[in-house]
Amino acid sequence: MKKYMLATDLDGTLVGDGDALKELLEFFESLPYKVDLVYITGRHYDSALSLIDSERLPIPSILVTDVGTSIYSGRELLRDPKWEQKVRENWNPHRIREIALQLPGIRLQTLPHERRVSFFVNDSEGASNLRQKLKESGIPHTFVFSSGRDVDVLPESAGKGKALQYIVEEYAGEEANILVAGDSGNDLDMLTLGYPAVIVGNAQKELLDVKSDHIFTATKACAGGIQQAWDHYYGAKI
Ligand code: GLC
Ligand code: MG
Repeated sequence: MKKYMLATDLDGTLVGDGDALKELLEFFESLPYKVDLVYITGRHYDSALSLIDSERLPIPSILVTDVGTSIYSGRELLRDPKWEQKVRENWNPHRIREIALQLPGIRLQTLPHERRVSFFVNDSEGASNLRQKLKESGIPHTFVFSSGRDVDVLPESAGKGKALQYIVEEYAGEEANILVAGDSGNDLDMLTLGYPAVIVGNAQKELLDVKSDHIFTATKACAGGIQQAWDHYYGAKI
């Protein structure tokens, strides 16, 4: 039997409506097949684990943190060294920080490591200025703007989409039945990979115009939207 996999963002997607989450998890339990859970979050590792704990989320098969810069797998959720090495290439967090902090209205996020450099901006203009300056600098990076507030500057080969593609190749296999779920800008590259995907009903405005044949726009928020999409794509197969 083909594998089933839910690759989902946490805040505002899987997490955000407690009753709907409970219902979705019960629904998965009731299915005649197992749904592998892959969490792909902007949070750093400790922060993701504390959310998993406080929301009583099932431990995932794979946890991707820091907007797709780190991948943890296996029972003990150990860091994937091959991915680690891949994303470290051409990575220059010091230069990126230096350039960003010369601009007005940009505050550095406090993070426990330098696998990404993230900022808070006051508005989309602040984000555009930073995007432009970094582009002009020629430093290899990936720029992600979410929720009108968060800017993540990632290594060139990182991001939620690239991490998910790697997971499909290394862990799941292209034939797996996948559903990708998200609610904000940092989910865009994984939502548009071409796999069945859902934008949940409470999505941030940067995703509202995203339309594609393989993207289901849910009317329900958070986990409720994921369940609607699961039914849409895989319901008939039960
Ligand atoms: C989460 C992270 C934050 C990041 C944001 C957008 O809120 O905690 O560091 O900037 O997601 O990816
Ligand atoms: Mg989110």
